[in-house]
Amino acid sequence: MTAQILLTGGAGFIGSHTYVVLIEAGYDVVILDDFSNAEVCVPDRLEQLTGKPVQVMKADVSDAKALNAVFAAHCFDAVVHFAARKSVPQSLASPEAFFSSNITALLTLLEAMERHHVKRIVYSSSATVYGAPEALPIPEHAPLSYTNPYGLSKLMGEQYLNQKTRSKRGWAAGILRYFNPAGAHPSGLIGEAPLSNGGNLMPLVAQVAKGELPCVHIYGRDYGTHDGTGIRDYIHVCDLAQGHVQSLNLLLQQGRSHTVNLGKGRGYSVLDVIKTYENVSGQQIAYRFKPRRAGDVAASFSDPSMAAAVLGFEARHNLLEMCQSSWRWETTGRMGLHRPAAFIPDHFPAAPAQHLQL
Ligand SMILES: NC(=O)c1ccc[n+]([C@@H]2O[C@H](COP(=O)([O-])OP(=O)(O)OC[C@H]3O[C@@H](n4cnc5c(N)ncnc54)[C@H](O)[C@@H]3O)[C@@H](O)[C@H]2O)c1
Repeated sequence: MTAQILLTGGAGFIGSHTYVVLIEAGYDVVILDDFSNAEVCVPDRLEQLTGKPVQVMKADVSDAKALNAVFAAHCFDAVVHFAARKSVPQSLASPEAFFSSNITALLTLLEAMERHHVKRIVYSSSATVYGAPEALPIPEHAPLSYTNPYGLSKLMGEQYLNQKTRSKRGWAAGILRYFNPAGAHPSGLIGEAPLSNGGNLMPLVAQVAKGELPCVHIYGRDYGTHDGTGIRDYIHVCDLAQGHVQSLNLLLQQGRSHTVNLGKGRGYSVLDVIKTYENVSGQQIAYRFKPRRAGDVAASFSDPSMAAAVLGFEARHNLLEMCQSSWRWETTGRMGLHRPAAFIPDHFPAAPAQHLQL
């Protein structure tokens, strides 16, 4: 029998790409999204891509009534939980709203799952739970910490899930720590089109390439990296989506909880990204150096060996493919869609990393 999956936040950037691979893998998927950070045309695009009608419910995950209704109407085997707020600057500006979206909503979801006997969940975590890493590459057993309310919300989410799976019989969770998702579906039909800008680098670079922003601000030019700019582990969103299928397969087939990094295992600098995007787009991309931001680290990249061992996961696409697919999306599928006002904070305050004993 086909397993049925509830995909919260399935109209968003990573959720929409994951929807496509879940359908390709034979899952029956229902999307629940409040469209607070997604285009209303996404379900139509997903229908175009999969050739199947999209089952979608517009609702807030913290709305217990709506959740009960969707659980009662279906017979879910598992939940893949993407719905959350993700902008670090916005989390600093209004932490309460973040905790409500990212923590209260998760607890409401877990209650609904419990009530309807659904005990498998894949959770979107983030490399932000490593705070300022002490060593590279970062393995899953590295110390956990946070430097902003967003990071704290992801860490708390992980802890709730660990508590649940340890204390409640039959529960299993796949906690996936994403590094830096980038790129878009090769069709150019779906990609990163947030209504509010989360501050990710590639969409900003794309906006400069399209002449919609004057320049990219680069925070720090004197890090101990090959060109002085910060290094991050970019992972193609289609690879990331595939990781969710592998996590779900493990949960459903073996009921085995796992916490793994999803990254490529190597880093690229801000200038590497800009230069590659220039080559792909044929546009010159202006940039301006700014002082380092508090809380930023020189380099962050994953040790991907646990994901390989536990899930058989490997991120296959390289930076060139991420830039090519992003540019295709920016110049085709994204044309005419709502464009967010760029959010480029000059000051990026952050608390010192809080190391936690877990
Ligand atoms: N994109 C990244 O750089 C990144 C990195 C690490 C982790 N993550 C995590 O991955 C998940 C997905 O990220 P994304 O980049 O696809 O973000 P996104 O904003 O594009 O997608 C989130 C989706 O959830 C929906 N949503 C938000 N709050 C909701 C709520 N309360 N009820 C129902 N729907 C709601 C939004 O409308 C949107 O469609 C998030 O949990 C995020 O924290 C993202």
